[in-house]
Amino acid sequence: MARRVAGGVLCFVASACGFVNDPVVVESSRTPEDSVAFDLPPPVETTPAEPSGSGNDEPTEAPSPTSPTSPSRSTSAGDQRFPELGSADIDVVHYLVKLAYRHDQRTIDGTLVVTGTLLNQTDQIALDADGPYVTAVRSGGASVDFVQAGRELLIALGEVKAVGSAFGVEVDFSVTVGEKSFFQGDVGLFPTPGGLWSVNEPDGASTWLPLNDHPTDKATWAFEITAPKGLTAIANGELSATHETLGGVTWSWQQTEPMAPYLITLLVGDYELVDDGTSASGVDLVHAVLRSRSKTLDAYRDVTRQQLAFFESLFGAYPFDRYGVAITDSVPGLAMETQGLSLFSSDELDGSLGRLQQAFLSHELAHQWFGDAVSPATWNDIWLNEGFATYAEWLWMEEVGFGDVQHVAEANLSGLPATGWPLAKPEEMFGLISYNGGATVLHALRLTVGDDTFFAGLRNWVATYLDDSATTAEFQVVMEESSGTDLDGFFDTWVYADSIPSQLPKSGAAVGSAP
Ligand code: ARG
Ligand code: ZN
Repeated sequence: MARRVAGGVLCFVASACGFVNDPVVVESSRTPEDSVAFDLPPPVETTPAEPSGSGNDEPTEAPSPTSPTSPSRSTSAGDQRFPELGSADIDVVHYLVKLAYRHDQRTIDGTLVVTGTLLNQTDQIALDADGPYVTAVRSGGASVDFVQAGRELLIALGEVKAVGSAFGVEVDFSVTVGEKSFFQGDVGLFPTPGGLWSVNEPDGASTWLPLNDHPTDKATWAFEITAPKGLTAIANGELSATHETLGGVTWSWQQTEPMAPYLITLLVGDYELVDDGTSASGVDLVHAVLRSRSKTLDAYRDVTRQQLAFFESLFGAYPFDRYGVAITDSVPGLAMETQGLSLFSSDELDGSLGRLQQAFLSHELAHQWFGDAVSPATWNDIWLNEGFATYAEWLWMEEVGFGDVQHVAEANLSGLPATGWPLAKPEEMFGLISYNGGATVLHALRLTVGDDTFFAGLRNWVATYLDDSATTAEFQVVMEESSGTDLDGFFDTWVYADSIPSQLPKSGAAVGSAP
């Protein structure tokens, strides 16, 4: 559950939610329900041809070595919070995502080409697909058997293949935009009057694409999105080409740095892409803004450069080759660190630059280091994303005069809930504990090891796990190596306990002996 502030607005960014200091009231004339309640054409009945092979039925027969009828023969990623999510049998190397969006019908016909390597010996692979209706699967150009069982898409490889074998499958599917509603706690694709947007954390990507939906399996991506002429289709990475086709215009995007599926962005609408040159450090800055709001972007260009330079000075080089802000007609109160192009609602990024905008902008930018470059290895490790981005947000807010971090951490500590801990496994994924609690604990760690060690440790964390995912235990190891100190006591007290101390450590507190 997200926090809600005045007006029923969702609140995912700490300072903006007014938890400490002066509450910020996020005004919105739209109710959450309004924001997704558009007049959609009635859903179109899609009756795809019955696929050769076992098709969309629940598995019924005993598995033969070549038919993909047994979910039990696939190993999930082993995420305690989402036991069904992901597959430990495959390492996807690259996804080619081809989508044809029909705005009149709100449907997408897609083909996903998935290539990778087998991590276990197996005769089938499993992808997550909780929404896509799969009509055909091919491997090496030939149709192969598949079955959709629950949220799994099981694909026969035709023979038992050894660990390390390469695989490549091509999946045809269709999906209807907006069948699920974000405000019922769901994620995925959402309609807007002029197109669509998406939010995919943690398991939304597999509601519209068949893929290995876990942050332990990062891949490179190419997107070829066909949208009606006059609309812009945006995904992660660099726009490499646009060309006219029968169905409209195809927009080709290349995401060449590894990315977890939950960080995908897909936007279709009347957008302008704004090339803003490069940052002082050479990062390409390309923003996306609804054409009707194009003037509002001007308020955020300089501050993005300033925040980038500030965070680079603390956390090390920006981890990707590009960054931008996307000002969209997604729901108010939500922002998302979609890789290389953070998602914001025009309700927050309305052309003004106050406390709320500073908080949202800094939080999502900081996630590019904490969440995107280094992703959580399990969803119980969510504080590695949200606590870190919230702490970075506090650091920026201090920099621009919105309150010093020590005071903010103290105020938070006294207001955090008593239940819902430990931080390493918070009751709510997107709640006060993972955000403000995580940030407060990071401040306690900084007071414990000292400023220089703390920031060196954060830089080592990013450098060590760049393009990868990691656990809370691995964070402890990095901080121990950086500080030359055993931090078991600190982590047991602040990270793994069911409650945390009521006082912050004194600056320079003793932390035990060398590990
Ligand atoms: N990671 C986002 C942020 O804090 C919040 C995403 C919330 N996701 C969700 N499905 N509610 O910046
Ligand atoms: Zn966040």
